[in-house]
Amino acid sequence: MIKKCLFPAAGYGTRFLPATKSMPKEMMPVVSKPLIEYGVEEALQAGMSDICIVTGRGKRSLEDHFDVNYELEHQISGTDKESLLSDIRSIIDRCSFSYTRQREMKGLGHAVLTGQTLIGDQPFGMVLADDLCINPGGPGVLAQMALLYKQFRCSIVAVQEVPRDEVHKYGVIAGQHISEDLIRIEQMVEKPAAEDAPSNLAIIGRYILTPDIFDLIHDTQPGKGGEIQITDALMAQAQRGCVMAYKFKGRRFDCGSIAGFIEATNYCYDRLYS
Ligand code: UTP
Repeated sequence: MIKKCLFPAAGYGTRFLPATKSMPKEMMPVVSKPLIEYGVEEALQAGMSDICIVTGRGKRSLEDHFDVNYELEHQISGTDKESLLSDIRSIIDRCSFSYTRQREMKGLGHAVLTGQTLIGDQPFGMVLADDLCINPGGPGVLAQMALLYKQFRCSIVAVQEVPRDEVHKYGVIAGQHISEDLIRIEQMVEKPAAEDAPSNLAIIGRYILTPDIFDLIHDTQPGKGGEIQITDALMAQAQRGCVMAYKFKGRRFDCGSIAGFIEATNYCYDRLYS
């Protein structure tokens, strides 16, 4: 039902310098597949085949990845290497891709606003590809959330319990439990100190958003460093109507950090090769 999925992918990825000096963080491979390809597979599994990517300077390889490479494909045609491209070929056949550029990196909220031109006036999924989510043997996290959207018709954010000493890295929520894994959000704080956090439920990089989020981000004042966050807009949405937090099934790796990226690599390598 939801067809579009937004991938904000314009950030500088400074935690991975120098690797990200000229290469997008989203193109870093976990084993042999770039992070963004895992994200697009997850979107596709949720029925979202219109892939909308917010890019920035130096990110052209993202567009090349989701396009044919005639010379290479001709070169390996008929060899045992041909099968290595079958997954990406199938993605290219099944999805449409559109791109827009964020000119100044003014934060996630600003990246989402930049993507409005691709999304228009409809609900959409959103994937931050540096969070790698895997649910072995079951539906992906975005597919789980798309099902919930059918029921509740409001914005949904994926949350995960994190240790108290890590809450300062996340947007943290609290609210009324509808069920074991579903919370109607009443409170949301961006990167709180451990003692100020309303819970240890942290928002991770999977969202379903209703399009009124764009106007709400528009009205959000820039915070530290001139960055526009998405948390204030989500909180306004929660106050006006309803935003759900969903404790998803599966594992999430913070591939925006070196430790999380290595952990994901080891996990995927073990699943593929042992
Ligand atoms: P992060 O803050 O994790 O990514 O943003 P970053 O800024 O690229 O990484 P570091 O902290 O410097 O290492 C979360 C997501 O939002 C996107 C990023 O690409 C990432 O997917 N983003 C962030 C944008 O698209 N634009 C921005 O201005 C900021």
